[in-house]
Amino acid sequence: MTARSGPLRVGVLASGRGSNLQALLDAAREKDYPARVVVLLSDRERAPALERATAAGVEAVFLDPKAYGDRAAYDAALLDRLEASRVELVCLAGFMRILSPAFVGGWVGRLINIHPSLLPAFPGLHAQRQALDHGAKVTGATVHFVDAGVDTGPIIAQASVPVHDDDTEDSLAARILVEEHRLYPEVVRLFAEERLSLVGRRVRVRR
Ligand code: GRF
Repeated sequence: MTARSGPLRVGVLASGRGSNLQALLDAAREKDYPARVVVLLSDRERAPALERATAAGVEAVFLDPKAYGDRAAYDAALLDRLEASRVELVCLAGFMRILSPAFVGGWVGRLINIHPSLLPAFPGLHAQRQALDHGAKVTGATVHFVDAGVDTGPIIAQASVPVHDDDTEDSLAARILVEEHRLYPEVVRLFAEERLSLVGRRVRVRR
């Protein structure tokens, strides 16, 4: 139980397909789910994520990086939109821009990301390809708090998937996505129910 009067207000930042956004939108339709997506912000005009949000009746905003002088100005615009929508938790879901330390610093403990590997293995781009190239037998998905580094923040939850001998990048990505779509709404629920706490860089989950 939480002291909040309504569902947790979630803002999602996405650059592309938006399947994780969709998982969050779908979860919010479940009875008693304690969070809802109130705004989707994208840095790509043609991102399918924009359409998914619109189709779900959620405000969808394209913020063109070219319209802003530098990263600080762009991130200030993101912040304005998030504040205007009274967002309480920001979920990165395939957002392909690095956020400035100032932005990240303003959202410590309220900014999370999903990554398609078992961090700290295979951070950054092409995590599935990295896993295949390395010869990993197990990989997976991680949801973590965002800090100033790339995929380095405190880990909230992980799910593993096997790597098969005949996997391609696509087949492995598809197997990982199944877990991503389960994990992200689960973590947002835990956050909304105020069951997460940080001890050093370890995240405790109250069961
Ligand atoms: C996912 O694999 C996510 O882990 C990574 O980017 C991808 C986004 O996919 N950060 P989608 O746009 O949510 O479908």
